[in-house]
Amino acid sequence: MEFSIKKLAPETAKAGCIVVGVHQAGELTQAARAVDQASKGAVRAALRDLSGKTGSTLLLRGLPGIAAERVLLVGLGEHEEFAEAAFRDAVRAAAAALKELGAKDAALFLADLKVGSRPSAWNVRQAVLATREAFYRFDELKTQNQPPKFIVLRYSGAGKSRRPVVLVGKGITFDTGGISLKPSSDMDEMKFDMSGAASVLGTVHALAAMKAPVNVIGVAPACENMPGGHASRPGDVVTTLSGQTVEILNTDAEGRLILCDALTYAERFKPEAVVDIATLTGACVVALGHVASGLFSNDQKLADEIREAADDAWDRVWQMPLWEDYQEQLRSNFADMANIGGRPAGSVTAACFLARFTRKQRWAHIDIAGTAWKSGREKGSTGRPVPLLVRFLLRHAGRK
Ligand code: BES
Ligand code: ZN
Ligand code: MN
Repeated sequence: MEFSIKKLAPETAKAGCIVVGVHQAGELTQAARAVDQASKGAVRAALRDLSGKTGSTLLLRGLPGIAAERVLLVGLGEHEEFAEAAFRDAVRAAAAALKELGAKDAALFLADLKVGSRPSAWNVRQAVLATREAFYRFDELKTQNQPPKFIVLRYSGAGKSRRPVVLVGKGITFDTGGISLKPSSDMDEMKFDMSGAASVLGTVHALAAMKAPVNVIGVAPACENMPGGHASRPGDVVTTLSGQTVEILNTDAEGRLILCDALTYAERFKPEAVVDIATLTGACVVALGHVASGLFSNDQKLADEIREAADDAWDRVWQMPLWEDYQEQLRSNFADMANIGGRPAGSVTAACFLARFTRKQRWAHIDIAGTAWKSGREKGSTGRPVPLLVRFLLRHAGRK
């Protein structure tokens, strides 16, 4: 799919379909008004079949005085309530409707709408992202039982003297829980447990494609979490790359075990900052649902940078505490720490575990268990937080 930005008048735009917005109570946007006038009131006449609620759509064909074959009206909801969420819902609905058409191309007249205090570049970016997402199709299936891989990729778009940002992504290609086996219901969904690693690959890919002036290193430990004769057992004590020992009390808390070594490994790049991204805990889904990712950091300036980028990208995060008080829950009599901290504050103790491996670094952790997860019939992954990470790195490099 290709996108371009052009200055067009809706009535003369030659396209398979043009998309114009309509607020509730029949209030037409500028583009809709232009189409209405050129077609001698065809838009107003059609409004009785469109509620105008956010995301409602109505397709009109062969309007007189209009160059495009089709006109798609999309509801924007109440004008006073029109903001980020409504804009995204409207574009998503328009894209879903376009998908059903035979049109080869379409022109969206939505980018000039005022969305809160956002610049129109924001509208364009969000429109492209939402459209791409609506048209995304996955049809490539891989076989099972792959050996583990430790993936490292480097993109150098800035001067050599600039220290890199290292992104570390959890890449569990399937999480059965291991010997601490998960219940079988919905276990099929645990193939999304590589979403952190995927977001790292996606972010580096995007930055390279736009030749961004940043130095970034992606690190993705990738493996399966399976039971078997060689699997770790509850009670095993392992020595990590950092030298610290861990008592594995639950083999389903596997993400932190691959991440802790990857975070230690990241030190060798002398990064300016290291950010890990992981579908780490069910507790984070309980705390924040599918709306915000959990953000943890040992550096408030870094946390603020990430929070601002997240808001800019509308790929939002919510900062959670990383206080020493929680570390106590990880105490073990047999090793430097246990790999689980019990039920209370599960996403916090998971982050506290990782914090023990990043004391020497400026570090942030993003728990995306809820925001990456698409469940049930929608099974898959959302692609979050690629928008956040790309914005973060661009802003970090001084690009707004
Ligand atoms: N990948 C899961 C986290 C997860 C669970 C994501 C459900 C999305 C939905 C992770 O490896 C895991 O199993 N975590 C355990 C940790 C527990 C054993 C301390 C969890 O959250 O139950
Ligand atoms: Zn997992
Ligand atoms: Mn697990």
